[in-house]
Amino acid sequence: MEYVAAEKAQQIIDRWDRKPENIIEMMHDIQNEFNYLPYDILMEVSQRANVPIAKIYNIATFYNAFSLKPKGKHRIHICMGTPCHALGAERLVSAIERELDIKCGDTTKDMKFSLDICGCVGTCGLAPVVIIGDELYGPISVQGVPKLIKKYEGK
Ligand code: FES
Repeated sequence: MEYVAAEKAQQIIDRWDRKPENIIEMMHDIQNEFNYLPYDILMEVSQRANVPIAKIYNIATFYNAFSLKPKGKHRIHICMGTPCHALGAERLVSAIERELDIKCGDTTKDMKFSLDICGCVGTCGLAPVVIIGDELYGPISVQGVPKLIKKYEGK
């Protein structure tokens, strides 16, 4: 694993010209490739790109797009902005928790789905909004949740 982490870290750093100011782009590449930010790769990037690991962790915990925990193949986000919240986003969270048998913030045992909340994504006219991967759905009702999840079960 050490060799793989070192090699992967080097590829990503090279892609961004080894510049410390490109650390967020490097982290996006890691997140996209692994669906989270593995510790060993962050350590390699920290050392090779000369960016303190504390700074990388600060960035990782500040931005919703990053996760330090492994996430599912299909990342589900429920918008909790004011319009979505007012139109039942919390009920959607509960419905998806029940459907997947996980709590918000967790990932299913088969690593297929993870569930998180997010801030307004700018499509309030479609509230309440559910985002799965790159796809946005809305308005989604509690009754519509099983059908929506089913769409991704075979993928
Ligand atoms: S509040 Fe959900 S899209 Fe704006």
